[in-house]
Amino acid sequence: MAILVTGGAGYIGSHTCIELLNAGHEIIVVDNFYNSKPDVLKRIRKITQRDFISKEIDIQDKDELEKVFIDHSIEAVIHFAGLKAVGESVQNPLRYYETNVNGTLVLCNLMAKYDVKRMVFSSSATVYGNPDQVPITEDSPLRATNPYGWSKLMVEQILTDLAASDKEWSISSLRYFNPIGAHASGEIGEDPQGIPNNLMPFITQVAIGKMNQLKVFGGNYDTSDGTGVRDYIHVVDLAQGHLRALEKIQKISGFHAYNLGTGKGYSVLEIKEAFEEAAGMKIPYSIVERRPGDIAVCYADPAKAKEELNWEAAKGIKEMCADAWRWQRKSFKG
Ligand code: NAD
Ligand code: UFG
Repeated sequence: MAILVTGGAGYIGSHTCIELLNAGHEIIVVDNFYNSKPDVLKRIRKITQRDFISKEIDIQDKDELEKVFIDHSIEAVIHFAGLKAVGESVQNPLRYYETNVNGTLVLCNLMAKYDVKRMVFSSSATVYGNPDQVPITEDSPLRATNPYGWSKLMVEQILTDLAASDKEWSISSLRYFNPIGAHASGEIGEDPQGIPNNLMPFITQVAIGKMNQLKVFGGNYDTSDGTGVRDYIHVVDLAQGHLRALEKIQKISGFHAYNLGTGKGYSVLEIKEAFEEAAGMKIPYSIVERRPGDIAVCYADPAKAKEELNWEAAKGIKEMCADAWRWQRKSFKG
């Protein structure tokens, strides 16, 4: 019996594949390589010394995806495949709804048809919008401010309804906070195309000389130093959370959402300083206008994941920065 991993060549998916293989799971990766490269799969094999089946398939291609369910015995699905750029989702909402919502519908229909009713879904802290209070618990109000966020909320609603309709379904929706860092080998990590949207890849690209300076979006938020505060979590900790969720869905039914974060918030300037220490260099920066749609503070209450999944983040900000930097240097050299 294998775990089907959609989007397994991507940033979080690739790190999760390593943890799954290391834990002895058999996996099948499905990815259309829209935002990743096939080479990542070779690197996963190299790191783990384990082989696995991988297929270039768009999850919306029902016929191709169905062949995977026909040809293999699948016990559960970890569903990462999707589009994740907030700004792009505002420019091209249909594409986001198609991939994230329709793609999930195609997948769920096949899962139902082939009686595979266990899923771990990649949700996001974005489903809390601008939170009323921090730390954010799972029962906080859900809201969205852009099509990407709506697509995650819609899928959570679909999965909630699906689990309510049939007690055999067991679904964990993992609401990630801000994943950063990379595998300690430096072989895999986040590989954004073009100018990075997110803070850590931007900082590492300034450090390597690809970007001139960091633009800090807003210096007048109501935070300790005026810059935005987020809950940064090491991607390997996040990956391990998926294994705990996988164990959980074997035991219980229904739809359950979990925050995967550390419970600590760091400001943009604190992250910049932590990176400077890890890399032994200064990162030039300037404070510019706020980025539209950004919120001041966002960090998790991760107690539910600790209690119910027996999971908590172990790696601190130093390790996140050191690992992000190792990956950036190694990948820049090719
Ligand atoms: P990523 O872009 O690195 O990985 C997504 C993978 O899915 C890529 O390999 C991409 O090629 C693949 N993919 C996209 N569309 C596909 C399709 N139609 N068919 C098959 N494969 C397809 O992103 P990531 O950071 O690894 O994120 C994984 C999941 O986690 C996404 O659903 C994302 O929305 C969610 N998430 C990410 C973050 C974050 O900050 N990285 C935060 C919260 C939630
Ligand atoms: N920031 C900068 N300069 C940059 C990039 C970011 O100052 O060049 C700041 C932002 O203003 C914010 C913080 O750094 O205060 C973090 O920004 P990111 O873009 O790295 O992350 P976000 O919290 O905005 O969003 C991320 C994902 C979303 C996801 C959300 C919650 O990009 O998809 O985390 O999980 F929804």
